[in-house]
Amino acid sequence: MRIVRRGETLVLETPAKINLFLEVCGRRVDGYHDLRTVMLAVSLTDTLHVRPSPSGALRFRQHLAGTFHADDGRPPEDDRNLVVRAARRLAETVGVPAAAEIELWKRIPWQAGLGGGSSDAAAVLLMLNRLWDLQLPWDELHSIAATLGSDLNFFVAQSPLALCSGRGEDVTAQPLRRRLSIVIAQPAGGLSTAEVFRHWRPSEVPACPATLLRWLAGDSHPFPASGVYNGLQGPAERLHSDLLPLQRRMSQCGLTSVAMTGSGSACFGLARSDRHASRAAQRLRNQPGWGAWAVRPWIP
Ligand code: C5P
Repeated sequence: MRIVRRGETLVLETPAKINLFLEVCGRRVDGYHDLRTVMLAVSLTDTLHVRPSPSGALRFRQHLAGTFHADDGRPPEDDRNLVVRAARRLAETVGVPAAAEIELWKRIPWQAGLGGGSSDAAAVLLMLNRLWDLQLPWDELHSIAATLGSDLNFFVAQSPLALCSGRGEDVTAQPLRRRLSIVIAQPAGGLSTAEVFRHWRPSEVPACPATLLRWLAGDSHPFPASGVYNGLQGPAERLHSDLLPLQRRMSQCGLTSVAMTGSGSACFGLARSDRHASRAAQRLRNQPGWGAWAVRPWIP
């Protein structure tokens, strides 16, 4: 993520992620679940502006910049928002006043499994580290990120592709040497991460991420047909009746390796080319209530 300075304002584009592989390994004593997941940052982005606060207070405003949002609500703009919590947590940790004006243009849908809120919050940690001239090293930023949520560390690491474990906060960067054209689509209505995890039950995992990671690294293997997998698909299907019809339609559009991302409700599929991806996204958007985007891996 490259922070751009415009006068006193810092500007950053923050990417969404998809989980190309997600295995739930088991429930932990703290109520979370251990995961093994392959995350890819993609070119569907929010934009964040951060500037000094003349009043010394923390102010946060958000604009819905995208044309599609799966539900009519909007994420809270008060202290419950992960962006605000990240700013306050950073200020408390280093003992400085939480003085900043933060403005967010949201295009990444929420309750979608696309990590938009986590990406925004991770970006705010990086930007305030710069704005407040804290010069915190990476490991400290990672420790703060891990206290805020399970997906933030992937975005703090700023690696386009990573294998993540633990709650999701242990991030190991992986090489990406493939051109990918991807379509993300979301039905009307999001899904709550906590609720999807609550409905998860242990089952056999038919895949392992090793061959997928080798393929993504450019290895000459053919694409592993069973490489894309999401262990939360079952519970998500039971909670959202449009998930399977959406995935069927994505396959009919010629997309392959169609799967859900994170805890849903967004899904993704691989296209043959960028042209194929934008055509398929257009067709999927024709369905009332559905959103769709043609994206590529996000290279920071
Ligand atoms: O970490 P995050 O706040 O995004 O997680 C939201 C909820 O999803 C958690 O409160 C928990 O119920 C569930 N979760 C889980 N195991 C994970 C990540 C999330 O059970 N590894």
